[in-house]
Amino acid sequence: MPCCDDGKLVVEPKNGCLPIIIPGNDPFYSDKVECIRFVRSSPAMDIGLNYKEMQQINQNTAFIDASHVYGSNDIVADYVRTKSGGRLKTSDNDDTGKPMPPFGGHLTDAPACPKAIEDGAPKCPITLEKDCFLAGDVRIDMVPGLIVIHTAFIRFHNIIAYQLSSFNTNWDDETIYQETRRIVGALFQLITYRDWLPILLGDKVMNDYNLNVASGGYSKTYNPVVIPTIRNVFATAAFRFGHSLPGDILKAAEKKDDFNQTFHFFDTCIIQKAKTSPSSMLKGLARCPMEPFDTVVGSALRDRLFERPAGPENDPPQPGLDLLSLNLMRGRDHGIPAYPKWREFCGLPPVEKFKQLKKAMGKKIAKKFKKTYNGKIKDIDLFAAGLAEKPLPDGILGPTFSCIIALQFKWLKHGDRFWYESKEQPKPFTPDQLRALRQTSLASILCKVTEGLYKFQKNPFLTTDVPGNDVMDCSNHKFIDLSHWQE
Ligand code: HEM
Repeated sequence: MPCCDDGKLVVEPKNGCLPIIIPGNDPFYSDKVECIRFVRSSPAMDIGLNYKEMQQINQNTAFIDASHVYGSNDIVADYVRTKSGGRLKTSDNDDTGKPMPPFGGHLTDAPACPKAIEDGAPKCPITLEKDCFLAGDVRIDMVPGLIVIHTAFIRFHNIIAYQLSSFNTNWDDETIYQETRRIVGALFQLITYRDWLPILLGDKVMNDYNLNVASGGYSKTYNPVVIPTIRNVFATAAFRFGHSLPGDILKAAEKKDDFNQTFHFFDTCIIQKAKTSPSSMLKGLARCPMEPFDTVVGSALRDRLFERPAGPENDPPQPGLDLLSLNLMRGRDHGIPAYPKWREFCGLPPVEKFKQLKKAMGKKIAKKFKKTYNGKIKDIDLFAAGLAEKPLPDGILGPTFSCIIALQFKWLKHGDRFWYESKEQPKPFTPDQLRALRQTSLASILCKVTEGLYKFQKNPFLTTDVPGNDVMDCSNHKFIDLSHWQE
């Protein structure tokens, strides 16, 4: 939809167009553009056909079910499969000889790669393709780091499918695919709750919200009255905490090959070159810590998101966007209540007065909020305040984001009838299979799918200087024992 064309306000904006107007004193944009493009989300009715509140439409499944590998709609789900041997499609190998995700960006209406498929657009020098990759989640191409993770799990699926089919020779394509998918989905749940969430939320919140996974046997957490759907506030504000963490520089295996994110949004070519291939970048990602969680965000996401230089054929340059402004505007577009309301919702001490705000986020930053919101604390946007709150003692986030995220992950676990630890589901894992899943780590998966990776730390979500998170030979990271799936 035309909505702030090339940085200029559109004379007759269409319904749903809500450009962010640049104030004359903006330090970055004011001499460049008049506005940032912003299109309102498609509206939907509230759960239970409640006509009082407008909601927005989800494109992906809510559950932690690896739908970003397998797709959330029939077209994508069908496209990513080879329909033979239970495998997922891949495209040509990268420079290191390993398969890449399939091309298919043209199938989606994602803003992913319109430039890449236009006539006259330069072809990727390695594959001679002009298309983008497609995976279960259409955002695969957005940043190289995301392509790497998608690539790893497509390769992982195909390794499991190959092994299952090698000893269950009577299994057809559908059986191999579904069994493999069940294993990959279970591992996603396990790794998320066992290895990642405790780092984000800390042990106290994990215990308070009953989020821990069992270390043996089955667990009975499914509760049919729990609604697992993704809550608006989670997607529109709290879980966007991650926008504070990426650095501007993407690390490759060798420091000299590091590159700047700003120039590589939707760049499917760079990831096929040996020095910046998935294996090289995984080694880089493993060695670099995240940026601190706070209100400071690098310029690749802050001012220059999706910026594009002039193209070869009189293509005008495309000015960058500001992800933080998009987040704030999206929060208002979706009608997310302001920060003090969420403090109340979470049962936290109120922040109605400046003194209380100071306590929640420290004097210096509280003063900035007071100035920016003209002293109206009741109007402070949740996303901005969530980044500013003092973190909990053993987690990364402050109490309000922790509460919203913990509740969402509780609903996703307790509202999932197919949760991997549940005995009550139609075809539960056997005790031996559960044990095999629990012995598997993310490190073992990444070792298996990555060319030239011989050593990796125990928990890839933590840096190697964390006590106990030693680098180990890949042969010591136990890969899933699939013999328990032999029929
Ligand atoms: C370089 C990394 C990233 C980029 C370029 C990026 C970019 C974006 C963009 C453009 C949007 C849509 C903004 C809008 O118009 O409302 C978005 C949404 C979102 N992002 Fe990110 N993001 C990144 C990393 C992350 C991380 C690390 C997390 C969480 C850990 C995250 C969580 C989210 C969430 C929850 C949404 C809302 C999704 C929805 O409601 O559909 N993002 N991101």
